[in-house]
Amino acid sequence: MPIKIAPSILSARFDRLVDQVLEAEKAGADMLHIDVMDGHFVPNLTMGPAIVHAIRSVTKLPFDAHLMVTHPQDFVQAFAKAGVDDLTVHVESDHDTSATIRAIRDAGVSPGVVVNPATPFEKAVPYLGDVDLILVMTVHPGFAGQAFRQDVVPKIREARDYIDREGLDVQLQVDGGIRLDTAPIVAEAGADILVSGSGIFPDRIAENLRAIRSAAERARARKR
Ligand code: DX5
Ligand code: ZN
Repeated sequence: MPIKIAPSILSARFDRLVDQVLEAEKAGADMLHIDVMDGHFVPNLTMGPAIVHAIRSVTKLPFDAHLMVTHPQDFVQAFAKAGVDDLTVHVESDHDTSATIRAIRDAGVSPGVVVNPATPFEKAVPYLGDVDLILVMTVHPGFAGQAFRQDVVPKIREARDYIDREGLDVQLQVDGGIRLDTAPIVAEAGADILVSGSGIFPDRIAENLRAIRSAAERARARKR
């Protein structure tokens, strides 16, 4: 499977959001990453189902919504209705993670589980049989444009090894500080999907996206 690139619209220019989304689509983005923050789970507020609904009709790209909220279970229905394709929820949120994952699946959406940099991979393991995606955060969530945390690389490898060893049908996603210089590191460690916000938006979107993709592909080919 080729590496997938998921531009995060959090770093797009919101006064030209539709144009920027279309530019990312034309440049070959595999999905759009949508960062949902509630000002409680993380110290920032971003976007909700209304924004998702508004851009759903302008692009065919799959929508990958990352819920950085205290009570993700309360928002499953609204995001499903707004047209997301997958919903990822943090193990650190205040919820019954298994129940939320089931609710996401029941709503016809693909579920994923997320672990923060400080959370060990083991915390995600109980859910891996029930999700399509695991997201390993490579920054502390809350803001775009933060520096990539090198100390998370062993956890990416650990997740890769576990998924392969167990033969799981789970994609490994990484998010935070992924740019031209760090994309090869995570690709080499085994990531399948690279989220990138400020590494792609808001200027030279196509150029940035293609450069990140080819740097990641080269790193993965070297590994083989
Ligand atoms: C961080 C978000 C990320 C962020 C990525 O809390 O979950 O998706 O927008 O932005 P960059 O790539 O700039 O770190
Ligand atoms: Zn994110």
